Amino acid sequence: MPAAAAAWPLTPLTIGSLRIDPPLVLAPIAGHSHAAFRELVACYGGCGLFYTEMLNSRFLAGQNLDKDRFLKVACRDRPLAAQVAGNDPEIVARAGARLESLGRFAACDLNLGCPRGPIQRYGWGAALLADPERTEAILGELRQTWSGPLLVKMRDPGFTNAGSGADLAAGTAAGSAARGADYRAWHQLLERTAVDALVFHPRTAPDLFKRPARWDRLAAFCAAASLPVIGNGDIFSPQDAVRMFQQTGCRAVMVGRAALIRPWIFRDILSYLKNGVIPEPPAPIEVVDRFLDMLERFSEADRRLRRLRLFCFWFLQNFAYGLHYFKTVCREPTPAAMHQLLHALLAEERVPPYPCRPFLQG
Ligand SMILES: Cc1cc2nc3c(=O)[nH]c(=O)nc-3n(C[C@H](O)[C@H](O)[C@H](O)COP(=O)(O)O)c2cc1C
Repeated sequence: MPAAAAAWPLTPLTIGSLRIDPPLVLAPIAGHSHAAFRELVACYGGCGLFYTEMLNSRFLAGQNLDKDRFLKVACRDRPLAAQVAGNDPEIVARAGARLESLGRFAACDLNLGCPRGPIQRYGWGAALLADPERTEAILGELRQTWSGPLLVKMRDPGFTNAGSGADLAAGTAAGSAARGADYRAWHQLLERTAVDALVFHPRTAPDLFKRPARWDRLAAFCAAASLPVIGNGDIFSPQDAVRMFQQTGCRAVMVGRAALIRPWIFRDILSYLKNGVIPEPPAPIEVVDRFLDMLERFSEADRRLRRLRLFCFWFLQNFAYGLHYFKTVCREPTPAAMHQLLHALLAEERVPPYPCRPFLQG
């Protein structure tokens, strides 16, 4: 594999009691970042912080958490952040208290980024970006009950009601200044509520995944921040991770879809950052075998089929015939039958070089 001209200095990110070392983070991914998948990522190494799937604050606040499958942890998926979604300050605070009492999470994160319809209709996720007062109230209450490191993960607020819309759209200097001022307003809000660090995904909620992540906005957001920023969006190769560090001033990088396609990507980013070398990829069938093993150890029997299908949706995008493979394996009625078919289909396959851009988004 080609060597990089220069390795990037790998500085661990310390946020209170949380040490993210290396500064590489697995994104929260609903339906995917469950204990079995996190353990798969962990077994390849290189990931410095794991995230749960988005957790419903109402469930957290009101239900018996002993058997909650979303709260399950594996063995090596540490440190682990719990991501909470909700918009009622009191309920989110109660959720924070219960997470704290479980004692298994190294950080708590409030979701200010989910753009999906149902979440928006509840006024959760990215909808809160249009309501800074409520966001401040939620974070203020959560800060009272969750004493550990507190993060928020946000999309670009977009700033439709500030500065000159034409300037913002045209990307002029006046537009950048207006955007910087608005970012500062968010940073001040987040500092007032004693948030410790931010994850920034530079797409607006209406963007969904329809346009590329705007790293220039991530850079502007980092420049206006006094809190550490974890950059996120469109890392599809180790080289992308280095570029994000170099171009934006972020302190750590978070990877979502590329980790679903290549759960070993953190190992590769770490190696590339250290010495410019990308190791050989694992044999595809070895990855499948490991995931099946993790599902058996860390997933309830009735969830395994669905989780294996979701895993295949992303993992099979490594291959030119991935969509055909995916449709074929999804016809199988059990994980065991899928496993057998995957062995037959992938026996001769090799993982191609990076980048690993998804051709389907789910
Ligand atoms: C299927 C899927 C589910 C996601 N679920 C969540 C979630 O539960 N919470 C969250 O904050 N972001 C969620 N995201 C967004 C990712 O965490 C991440 O911000 C986004 O994918 C951009 O990073 P990437 O370009 O590395 O994929 C999800 C993304 C996808 C594709």
